[in-house]
Amino acid sequence: MITYPQARTCPYHPAPGYDELREGPPLRRTQLINGQEAWVISGYEQARALLADSRVSSDRTNKGFPMIMPPAIAAVQTSPNRPFIVRDDPEHNRVRRMLISEFTVRRLKELQPEIEKIVHATIDAMLAAGPPADLVTAYSLPIPSLVISRMLGVPWEDHEFFQRQTRTIVQSRDPKDSGEAVGSLLAYLSALAQDPPPGLIARLKEEQVGTGAMSLDDLVVTSMLLLGAGHETTSSMISLGVITLLEHPDQLAALRSDAGTVAGAVEELLRYLTIVETALLRVAVEDIEIAGEVIKAGDGIVFAASIVNRDPAAFEHPDRFDVARQANHHVAFGFGVHQCLGQNLARVELRLALPTLFERVPGLRLAVPVDELDLRPATTIQGVNALPVTW
Ligand code: HEM
Repeated sequence: MITYPQARTCPYHPAPGYDELREGPPLRRTQLINGQEAWVISGYEQARALLADSRVSSDRTNKGFPMIMPPAIAAVQTSPNRPFIVRDDPEHNRVRRMLISEFTVRRLKELQPEIEKIVHATIDAMLAAGPPADLVTAYSLPIPSLVISRMLGVPWEDHEFFQRQTRTIVQSRDPKDSGEAVGSLLAYLSALAQDPPPGLIARLKEEQVGTGAMSLDDLVVTSMLLLGAGHETTSSMISLGVITLLEHPDQLAALRSDAGTVAGAVEELLRYLTIVETALLRVAVEDIEIAGEVIKAGDGIVFAASIVNRDPAAFEHPDRFDVARQANHHVAFGFGVHQCLGQNLARVELRLALPTLFERVPGLRLAVPVDELDLRPATTIQGVNALPVTW
């Protein structure tokens, strides 16, 4: 029996151990790394059907939930004051609705000039300091961190603190370290929420906490979710996107020669890289018949998103990286009621950060071979811990 998840050996390909998942049935009972058994879903059609099914729950306190996330995240996600991403409707939707206007395409169009300025200023600083550079610290991390901290109204002078805490929460296997990181980030955001600078936290405090629609604890935990989800994911996509484009020079040339390919290239990168291999987790709350199997109430469900996004029934020649592919129906942002709230923001950031970097640093190249890169462990958002580059 295959175990799930498994570590990648190449930054832009699913773990070789998943090959078995690609042959045979679209779902199967599998042993998870924590010893639990769960259904692993590898078929595109079945993944979309289950993610949209109200008989599956995102609530980590339900019996049988597949708990493969790092320990500090598990603690936050099972606490009485857990964020809306791990709640079911109607509680989930109550908070989501309060945030949605901040993440619409229209709102992000307004933010675009500011994001563009951030991208250029970050490249200016990198060029002034290098070469060489670690692209993660010089580029991939600062851009989404700056953007989300501006949106929320979190002071930039504190960025080293919140980036370090988020990284510890996401990556550390030591429950003490990661527990302390959660505690200090919550304490920091609680203090900030007392008298927040202008931004989304201040607006939520006035409009929602002020009217009794949201508790102060809810505001703090929601801010922590947005701050974390808003920078670790997009940062990984920028780093892995750069590696993938450098390793596929014909595709990079296509992107460079025609600005019209950028949006499609970003969707293809989202599909091809699928960095959230272990974030799409659910438990059945009723029996569900699907593809000739019965998922019983209380059975855990894990979506092998990187394999789902390479299902040949949904994407022709799925292992080919093709910036001209129309890949918009991928599940890299999930599907159903929990589909990524920040997807429009992530798209704007990626559509600016990737082409602008290659335009302004035309000689950019990796400073070490791809197989020497330090890859993130299997249980977290996929990415690289550092990305040595030169130009
Ligand atoms: C939800 C991926 C960027 C905020 C999700 C989910 C996925 C995902 C797969 C669904 C989780 C589930 O169904 O259980 C990504 C990827 C990103 C990205 C790949 C970058 C490329 C962002 C950004 C934000 C954000 C920039 C901004 C704050 C959220 C929130 C949710 C979410 C709040 C919960 C939505 C809900 O439960 O209704 N994301 N995300 N994400 N994401 Fe993102």
